[in-house]
Amino acid sequence: MKKEAFEVLLNRRAIRKFKPEQITDEELNAVLEAGTYAPTGAGTQGVQIVAVQTPEYRDRVAALNAAVMGKDMDPYYGAPTIVLVFETPEGFTQGFDGPAVTTNIVNAAYAAGLGSCWIHRCRQMFEMEEGKALLREWGLPENLTGSCSVALGYADCEQPAAKPRKEGYIVRV
Ligand SMILES: Cc1cc2nc3c(=O)[nH]c(=O)nc-3n(C[C@H](O)[C@H](O)[C@H](O)COP(=O)(O)O)c2cc1C
Repeated sequence: MKKEAFEVLLNRRAIRKFKPEQITDEELNAVLEAGTYAPTGAGTQGVQIVAVQTPEYRDRVAALNAAVMGKDMDPYYGAPTIVLVFETPEGFTQGFDGPAVTTNIVNAAYAAGLGSCWIHRCRQMFEMEEGKALLREWGLPENLTGSCSVALGYADCEQPAAKPRKEGYIVRV
């Protein structure tokens, strides 16, 4: 919100240690609103964002992700908020819209002074019966496709440094 756009785009880093305290509604709403303004194919907005903050649901989502990974750990690094990004069957460019929205979310999180980390395995989580049960409990259709997820909260670590960008990353012709 306060940082210049290019500072945000260049300096956002994945955060993997979070304070337990919950972020404010104002912070969450700002980050999610930024997600809703991401580009989507033909502007169809074929994305559903779910913010998970209820501790029981947060822990069930984390356990589901860990189960897909086959590891006994918290894949969300203790973050008190998990943002799930789904694609809807109506989307014009499925497979692309979810990551576009997620990119806006992680950059907006950094702009708002929050830490975030993009977390994988969302598709597999919501192909599982436990994932579909969560969708039912949340009153959402079971035909949503898990796309991406984000750990969100206050960073409890120093800002990590970016790796140098690889040689030849950009070609100009
Ligand atoms: C598609 C995708 C999946 C990712 N999945 C995970 C993940 O499951 N766990 C994790 O700790 N980081 C995950 N990350 C974060 C990357 O590891 C991180 O963005 C990368 O190491 C570069 O670091 P930076 O974001 O600080 O620039 C993922 C990032 C992307 C784009």
